[in-house]
Amino acid sequence: MKISPFKIEEWMNRYEAGALIDLTTTCIKPLTINELCRNTRIDIYDTQLGYGDITGSERLKNNIKSLYSNQGLNNITVTHGAIGANQLVFNSLLEKGDEVVCIVPTYQQHYSIPESIGAEVKLYFLKEENNWLPDLDELSQFITSKTKLLCLNNPNNPTGAVIPNWMLEEIVKIAEKNRIWVLSDEVYRGLNLIGNPYSISVADIYSKGISTGSMSKTYSLPGLRLGWVCAREDLINEINHQRQYNTISVSILDDYFASVALENKDFIQARNFKILKEGIKTFSDWVINETLVECVIPTGATTALVKYKKEMPSRDLCKRFQNRTGVALLPGETMEMEGYVRIGFCAENLKPALELFSVYLKD
Ligand SMILES: Cc1ncc(COP(=O)(O)O)c(C=O)c1O
Repeated sequence: MKISPFKIEEWMNRYEAGALIDLTTTCIKPLTINELCRNTRIDIYDTQLGYGDITGSERLKNNIKSLYSNQGLNNITVTHGAIGANQLVFNSLLEKGDEVVCIVPTYQQHYSIPESIGAEVKLYFLKEENNWLPDLDELSQFITSKTKLLCLNNPNNPTGAVIPNWMLEEIVKIAEKNRIWVLSDEVYRGLNLIGNPYSISVADIYSKGISTGSMSKTYSLPGLRLGWVCAREDLINEINHQRQYNTISVSILDDYFASVALENKDFIQARNFKILKEGIKTFSDWVINETLVECVIPTGATTALVKYKKEMPSRDLCKRFQNRTGVALLPGETMEMEGYVRIGFCAENLKPALELFSVYLKD
């Protein structure tokens, strides 16, 4: 199977490790095992390291189920991160020639895997003047009776936009009318900065709604490599059939620590929101005072998409900036958004890094 290079991951593999300050990050500082288990007695030392429950333990699935309002254990399967969850959805649903509409900018998996399967992928570009939210009239024209799947990412990486619940309901109506599946990558669900931190999930409001999620962002545990798909039972059965070829089971250690995290999600959320609120304040103050950038301030997730006023392609800009200062930024070109950079506003040392970026932009 031929597939395009995953531009973000390639950039991050090359530039993230050597950075003095890493603004490419989408993760809120990961928890240590000690921090995670501060209220829990670790009781796995006598557990046999077997394959465990193949599609996830009942304890874990019950914890995942509690994040939704309308799901049973048979609607959930556990995967290697959200990246594994998305891949399984595409492999289970799509065939050569299927039409897929993908709302971009987004995580590249959402269009490159369907393309590699031979699907006809139509990219619907969000616009800054719409606060990076879809225009429903435009979107409904984009979708045809041939469309099989609509992919979106809510809250969105890289823009930090959160689709309001009423708008998600309207999107579902468009999908329902055309009888198409909707994959909503909800890996940042629980990180809304305004109102209820959790948006409604597409799986809870639509029979052909598929939600993917993980421990990586909202729960600050990317090292667990644990995610899930939540969808109706016949699709989960099909995914489990595909899953036998590339997963068997996830590690029982990941399954265990993910359960601990979800049972203690209130303290993780409190800790994460402290970091996020400080980050968004520092970031917004910088945007307001920096005339050489423009940005729609994020209402959720962990990143912002920043338009810069400097005549330079984004890859060159980021490379030169990092060579000069050690600060890593993500070029917009890696997300099909030339002229922009992505900034992780939950990064450590955000303020000095933004000050260095201002100096660089003026140069
Ligand atoms: C939108 C989106 N989906 C999926 C992933 C993959 O997440 P995971 O670590 O759970 O595999 C990422 C990681 O950055 C992401 O931003």
